[in-house]
Amino acid sequence: MANSIESTLVETRVFQPPQNFVEQANVAGQASYQALLEAADRDPDAFWAKQAREHLHWTKPFTKVLDESRAPFFEWFGDGELNVSANCLDANLKNGNASKVAIIFESDDGVVKKITYQQLHDRVCQLANGLKALGYKKGERSIIYMPMSIEAVVAMQACARLGITHSVVFGGFSAKSLHERITDVGASLVLTADEQMRGGKAIALKPAVDEALAMGGCEAVRHCIVYKRTGGKIAWDAKRDVWFHDVADKQATTCEPVAVGAEHPLFILYTSGSTGKPKGVQHSSGGYLLWAKLTMQWVFDAKANDIFWCTADVGWVTGHTYIAYGPLAAGLTQIVFEGVPTYPNAGRFWKTIQDQKVSIFYTAPTAIRSLIKTSDADAAVHPKSFDLSSLRLLGSVGEPINPEAWMWYHTNVGGGRCPIVDTWWQTETGGHMITPMPGATPLKPGSCTTRLPGITAAIVDEVGGDVAAGQGGFLVIKRPWPSMIRGIWGDPERYVKSYFPPELGGYYLAGDGAQCDKDGCFWIMGRIDDVLNVSGHRLGTMEVESALVAHEMVAEAAVVGRPDATTGEAIVAFVVLKRTRPEGDEALALGKQLRDWVAKEIGPIAKPKEIRFGDNLPKTRSGKIMRRLLRVVAAGEAITQDISTLENPAILDQLSKPV
Ligand code: PRX
Repeated sequence: MANSIESTLVETRVFQPPQNFVEQANVAGQASYQALLEAADRDPDAFWAKQAREHLHWTKPFTKVLDESRAPFFEWFGDGELNVSANCLDANLKNGNASKVAIIFESDDGVVKKITYQQLHDRVCQLANGLKALGYKKGERSIIYMPMSIEAVVAMQACARLGITHSVVFGGFSAKSLHERITDVGASLVLTADEQMRGGKAIALKPAVDEALAMGGCEAVRHCIVYKRTGGKIAWDAKRDVWFHDVADKQATTCEPVAVGAEHPLFILYTSGSTGKPKGVQHSSGGYLLWAKLTMQWVFDAKANDIFWCTADVGWVTGHTYIAYGPLAAGLTQIVFEGVPTYPNAGRFWKTIQDQKVSIFYTAPTAIRSLIKTSDADAAVHPKSFDLSSLRLLGSVGEPINPEAWMWYHTNVGGGRCPIVDTWWQTETGGHMITPMPGATPLKPGSCTTRLPGITAAIVDEVGGDVAAGQGGFLVIKRPWPSMIRGIWGDPERYVKSYFPPELGGYYLAGDGAQCDKDGCFWIMGRIDDVLNVSGHRLGTMEVESALVAHEMVAEAAVVGRPDATTGEAIVAFVVLKRTRPEGDEALALGKQLRDWVAKEIGPIAKPKEIRFGDNLPKTRSGKIMRRLLRVVAAGEAITQDISTLENPAILDQLSKPV
């Protein structure tokens, strides 16, 4: 672990929850928040049992709440049984929401399609029946590599209905990344689309699946189900490939949900860690869904007439919890958006909010920062040129939001009247952990504020001791919580090593450095490991390095993050070639070649912003690359650190110059 995190806080602005918001809030006022917090701290088992009984429909009630006997492999509601899809769909049909719109789908080119809870239920049942007819059943794993679409949600829900554990792979990942996930998870089924539409362009998806499946080791895959999104030309393997509509259309619109144990893995989602190999984060059914639903109500203050819009992709955890599961379990109408924020122009988000009367809007700081730039340059795409009066609550996720972006979001998008919930959480936590409750928590721009009830977040030192307010340290969660990661698929040792290091005495180590101020507000300082956060996307430096050294020209590579005004962090790669160091135009051309190579190996999100070539890398006498110096060099800062252990100090000069 790195040394303690140092930081100085200067932000002093505080925004109280507006009175009219408090009056209608699900958690209204500080006292209500405190009461929940205290109830959860006083008797966690009783607290969680009550929530789980009130918020979920169990086919077999649980008698045990938390089982710690195999810690840190915790079990929640272990002897209870339920079905996640029944909780998201059938429950709404019984609640009188059958004719309520579940999803407003807005395509890349602006075409809108609405689907009610009844229709969504029917379509999910049809696909589930189709999957059954193909022989799929509980316990198998599927890979979902699909664009943002109603069909992607249908695919996830249909798997959940049958107890098939899904693993969604973001459509921007390469065939190689897809192959890695198909084999690691042992998938027997792949669901994909012919192409996806982004920013007016068709981008192929099915060819990446074909390529991945041809790489070997995927023999368990029996079918590839293809959703026809564009009708673009694709290769077809008649023995393996089937159209989504052929699988689903003729099937019955009811399908008995398969009851699964609360601990049954609902999904496995791959995320980056500090080694080259992504981790398959395994989530449960009962505990996960409970938290997805509860945070919709507490943090998003979900109400029957809300129009909710989370702009994430279903390929990330945000799109799992706050698109595919949470909003449906809470019975909301939500937007599913296929496009990008800048197409046909940078006013797209604001136009959609205006047209669809969105009331809760949840997006990432990167998107906000890039839209600040474009709207400063063009009044026509500025949020003030749109009627955003339907908004009542804003949210932020994925990376720290800088106070300037927070203020702009608050003023220009929220009209100064909408609270902002800056939600800190991770793929591993399943749902929000530290965030304001909008009707209760005073907001401080740049802070994700306070812990949610039942979430024992704290800042500790290297040996797990609490640190004083205002001091940097490691962000930990002291006690287990229902939606926590259950394991790393196929690698229990890595799970224990990554999240429960022995020196912390059983606390969950989040991997973030943070501090807590005197009001109990958390300020996230960034990762303490070799994980980068680029535009809210999590990437391991080792993953990018492995991709670079896989290129035939590359002898060595070291990758670091550099602060970036728009993307939060940007990737800078220092590369030593097997041949002499290129300069000038040649360096530019080779840099481009390597950047494209990384995009092909991992996906465009992993493309380094900059590549610098050196004769060598800065190393200690024992041959260890000194990454902390590379971080300084990449940021263009002067080196003030001790470099006496450096074998080759002159190399720093060479690497300091951008190509
Ligand atoms: O560093 C934290 C940052 O994103 C990491 C988790 O990334 P991922 O698993 O991809 O999940 C992102 C969406 C939940 C964290 O370890 N992070 C996430 N939300 C915030 C944040 N950093 C600061 N403030 C946030 N609100």
